[in-house]
Amino acid sequence: MDQEATESYQAQAYLYKHILNYVSSTSLKSAVQLGIPDIIHNHGEPITLSELVSALRIDPTKTSCIYRLMRVLVLSGFFATIKVDKNQEKEAYALTPFSKILVKDNIICSSPLVMVMLDPNVLNPWQFLADWIQGTKQQGPFESANGKTFWKYMDQDPEFRNLFHDAMQSDSQLMNLIVKDCKPVFEGLGSLADVGGGTGTLARVISEAYPHLKCTVFDLPHVVANLPATASGNLNFVAGDMFQYIPSADAILMKLVLHAFGDEDCINVLKRCREAIPTQGGKVIIIEIVINEEKDERELTEAKLFFDLTMMVAATGRERTEQEWEKLFIAAGFSDYKITPLFGLRSLIEVYP
Ligand SMILES: C[S@@+](CC[C@H](N)C(=O)[O-])C[C@H]1O[C@@H](n2cnc3c(N)ncnc32)[C@H](O)[C@@H]1O
Repeated sequence: MDQEATESYQAQAYLYKHILNYVSSTSLKSAVQLGIPDIIHNHGEPITLSELVSALRIDPTKTSCIYRLMRVLVLSGFFATIKVDKNQEKEAYALTPFSKILVKDNIICSSPLVMVMLDPNVLNPWQFLADWIQGTKQQGPFESANGKTFWKYMDQDPEFRNLFHDAMQSDSQLMNLIVKDCKPVFEGLGSLADVGGGTGTLARVISEAYPHLKCTVFDLPHVVANLPATASGNLNFVAGDMFQYIPSADAILMKLVLHAFGDEDCINVLKRCREAIPTQGGKVIIIEIVINEEKDERELTEAKLFFDLTMMVAATGRERTEQEWEKLFIAAGFSDYKITPLFGLRSLIEVYP
């Protein structure tokens, strides 16, 4: 074969792999829907294909479907195959660190993230991205697909809202593992308002780790309506719109809030945050992605850039580099900031008046 033919065939294989990338995420969603991580976990030891099919209570004629689904998920690292007999012939499936966090019994379970991010309400807007970029659609992609902007849509679809807040709770539960190590961040603070704090998972984790801290969770009325304050009185909920009002506190916390908004909206909110904290000793604590293509490994950058496009499609928001964050802080009147990378995708940014 001449070089042109070789290159074209390689290019086509590469293209197919990328076209079919959705198979990787949708296979994972099917495994979560089928409860496969839970079945393997509850089995207590690696599970053979026939045991898995029997635990799934499906028709044995579907055995090869499960084999093929698991073959892809083993290749992508979500499950491992282990030889379980003396002759090293019989194979069984085991969990890996990537599927252990999908087990529902675990305190930290990321299955809701899989379900919400692969929900049709989140995937359908992609069909409208090119039209929106070309300017043939006035509305953003999410609105074109679902008839309303992201937060307004959430107000009208309780099923999607519950899915979304389950996912946010599971994302915030992970903070449980590191909040106690963040002592210097919370030192000297008497009060904290978690703006866009959802149903209060992170604020609860913080208030349990630092009981002296008076925490307020501030979010839209349909999110915090009917959520009770804790008996100890150090966690309460306030409903409102952060573009109109931010509750006063020694520190304002915002996790995964600003990335859903464009720069102008972020500067507006940050200015209000600045007014809501003391000039001496006050700060804004932001937990978000910081894109760092030079320093991060390729896989991490890819995940961050995928998130960036997801925010563009879902809510006309964006992920930001350090320079882009700095511009927002200066425009909102802040004088200094400090970035501490957390494990995984996010960083903790402390912003000072
Ligand atoms: C991605 S969620 C993050 C929730 C929480 N901080 C967490 O990390 O688990 C963004 C939150 O911002 C809230 N939000 C969006 N617009 C808001 C507004 N105008 N005022 C107050 N909260 C808002 C949403 O209701 C949602 O709970």
